[in-house]
Parts: sequence; structure tokens; C-alpha cells
Amino acid sequence: MKKKSYLLATDLDNTLAGDPAALTALFEFHEESKVEPALIYVTGRHLDSALQLMEEEQLPLPDLWITDVGTSIYEATTLEEDSKWHDWVNENWQPSSILRVASRFPFLHRQDLPHTKRISFTVEPEHAESVHLFETGLKSEGIPHHFVFSSDRDVDLLPERSGKGAAVDYALRQYAAQDVNVLLAGDSGNDAQMLSLPYPAVIVGNAQQELDELPTHPLIYRATTNFAGGIQEAWDYFYDFSGIKKPIG
Ligand code: GLC
Ligand code: MG
Repeated sequence: MKKKSYLLATDLDNTLAGDPAALTALFEFHEESKVEPALIYVTGRHLDSALQLMEEEQLPLPDLWITDVGTSIYEATTLEEDSKWHDWVNENWQPSSILRVASRFPFLHRQDLPHTKRISFTVEPEHAESVHLFETGLKSEGIPHHFVFSSDRDVDLLPERSGKGAAVDYALRQYAAQDVNVLLAGDSGNDAQMLSLPYPAVIVGNAQQELDELPTHPLIYRATTNFAGGIQEAWDYFYDFSGIKKPIG
């Protein structure tokens, strides 16, 4: 992975995955233009669910998995977890305190997950407006957390130091070449922290409205093409393929 000059860190659902023809075209483009990036899949799913999606959608094997909204990092072939990241983010993680506060809000439906590295809920659309009350409750009790509300449906409570952005930042320093040419890609609120890192980033054309809140910035490109097509559009926007960055903006 350290030998690659390009690196794509991408969300899966509704970003890389969602349009099989666009996905095939993207990987053909990578091959033809000699981009052939190192791949980091950065997903809200837990590992088994992410592996299942990879099989269903026939996604290529990545170099690294970042799962559970940036709370876990796994080497892709051995599926060995990065214990340094795990220990760092979990130092002050208090899932039972979070669950205690959550029990006051009956509109929160707990997601069935195989672990408590994050605590996630879904809410019905009519309760989206009330989700901030949960966050206020956690803050008023001083319970450390990172709160992510996305797609007007998913409420993820993560260890304070984690999140897709924090995990990608760590992974780039730990696993990638120092001068690697990065492209970040996402479509929804759980990608916002990652898309705000100081690297070229693309919001795909089919993104959720909540990403309109990200600022207009030379490193954030809003593609007109959907799904994997938006990623391809962004490679062309940010880079030429001789390894020299085009002037951005
Ligand atoms: C994915 C995960 C879900 C999470 C959501 C938002 O859909 O499966 O658990 O809440 O992403 O991050
Ligand atoms: Mg997504």
C-alpha cells in the first residue's frame, strides 16, 4: 500500500456501490489511466455486513477496511484489527452510560450490532427533529461521545476520538505513502468528517441533502454524476495522471 501513488478512501453504500455499470467503468478507468489506487473502504457497516456487500456487489478487495463509522480498522487480507487504533479510541468509551441516557428517548430504536464499539439507533422520519435532545442529554451528563446523525434515520454514537475522518487521517499516516495523491468520496452525513479532511474530496451526485452543509471549498468537489461515476469525475477534476496535481479550483 505504501508503494501506491494514488489512494481512494471511499464510502460504500450509495457511493462506490449503487450503480454496477459505473463501478465497472471506474475500475476500467483506474486501469487504463494507470491510477490503480490503494483502496480504503470506509463504511458505516460492521465488518461482516461490509464483507457481504463486497461479495454481493462484486467490489474488489481493498487494502484496508475502516468499518463501523470509523471505530474499527482491519487489514484487508488477514482481517486483523489495528489494535493501536482500537485502544486509542476506546480509552474513554462508555457505552453503558450512553444506553442509560438513550433509554429516556423511546423514539430511538437500537440497531442490532454484533458488538458495542459503537451504539447505533434508527429513528422514524417524524422524530428526526427530536434527535438533538438525546445529544443534549449526553452533553449535560458529560458523557464523552462523537454524535453522527445521517440520512434523517441513523444515529451513531461513537467513541469521541473516532469517526470516518479521524480513522482515515490515522490510516493515511500509518499505512500510506507520505506523498500519496488522495481522493476521498462519500454521499451522506456520516462521511462529512472524512470529506472535510485536507485532501481532495468528492460528494457524489446522488448525495443526501445534509452534505449541502459542508462549505464551498477548493478541496470539496460536488460531482454531477452519481455513485462510482462521481468518483471517476473527481479523479479527472483534481488530478492528471503523471503524478503532478493540477492547480485546484
Ligand atoms: C450503515 C450501517 C448503520 C449505520 C449507518 C450510518 O447503514 O449499517 O449501522 O448506522 O451506516 O452510519
Ligand atoms: Mg453512504
